[in-house]
Amino acid sequence: MKTNTPQTFAKVTTEKATKKDIGLLHTWYLDNKRPLPWRKSKDPYKIWISEIMLQQTTSKAVIPFFERFTKKFPTVNSLAKAKIEDVYEVWSGLGYYSRARNIHKAAKLIVDNKSFPNTYEQLLELPGIGPYTSRAIASIAFSQPVGVLDGNVIRVLSRKHNLAFEWWKTKERNFLQDLSDSYMKGKSPADMNQALMELGATLCKPLNPSCLLCPWLKTCSAQKNNTIEELPLVKPKAAKKILLWTVEIPQKKSTKIVLVKNQYAPFLKNQWLVPGSIKVCKTRPKTYDLKHNITKYDIYVQIKSNSLKQIETKYKNSEIIKTIKADVKKLNPSSVIQKIINL
Ligand code: ADE
Repeated sequence: MKTNTPQTFAKVTTEKATKKDIGLLHTWYLDNKRPLPWRKSKDPYKIWISEIMLQQTTSKAVIPFFERFTKKFPTVNSLAKAKIEDVYEVWSGLGYYSRARNIHKAAKLIVDNKSFPNTYEQLLELPGIGPYTSRAIASIAFSQPVGVLDGNVIRVLSRKHNLAFEWWKTKERNFLQDLSDSYMKGKSPADMNQALMELGATLCKPLNPSCLLCPWLKTCSAQKNNTIEELPLVKPKAAKKILLWTVEIPQKKSTKIVLVKNQYAPFLKNQWLVPGSIKVCKTRPKTYDLKHNITKYDIYVQIKSNSLKQIETKYKNSEIIKTIKADVKKLNPSSVIQKIINL
């Protein structure tokens, strides 16, 4: 059972990696690392693509997508030259299409600048690259000693140092960031970051961790204090907003559809979307045609059927496009749009 009892922050602020623990983890990683395809190369482009994909799902699930993507677009130049519809096509199945769009935009910027940014600070400037990804690329491709902090690393470090604190808050997170950085000293940062992630993914799992196989069994503070199962503390979930999304689509017999450049819905911003309106609700609406859940919203869709002509006239002052239904996927591959059209 996980308890949620934060400890005072002051108690732990002196924690840092020791040379012995760095050595133990490094050796374990070299002996146990999985032969993942993105580990075959130091090409920053391939490492970048893998790190974006790995934010969405497990290494095992990413492998076929990574192979397909890098076969179709083997270099940043080939990606920059591609049409976005082709990028969507090889990304399909992974979801989070805004990530594919950002990768494409960033590839064009990299090619325009004629060199791949090689520091954490420069990488952060690119669209879709936040602190985690910039640190991962900078350390793995360019050996910069910057530690990463993802879910796996937060769990590993919270247990290793017995940190029963609210890691999602700024001060605590900054502390964890410094702690992660302290593990980058003395050995290859590419290995050390991947070792922390690998330990979290393979042994130091959220449930039933394999502590007996852990290189830190004897130096793990949570192991000593019998708190493994309680750490890290569970972040309280933010309440989702309920949205009623009324969409206007042409009657079934029409093969065509009108899309608008979305300026009205708080999701899929600036993308081609079926026209309509959004209402924020306190409770689930009584009637709706379909439901779609995303991270921040529970979306209830109500479909209003109209003639193509009426829809075109109604939205003539917005940026609109008329296309055949079969081509909508190329313009916006998000699954909710397909669900609406197919209904
Ligand atoms: N998760 C994210 N990046 C990873 C990597 N390079 N190795 C293992 N797991 C990861």
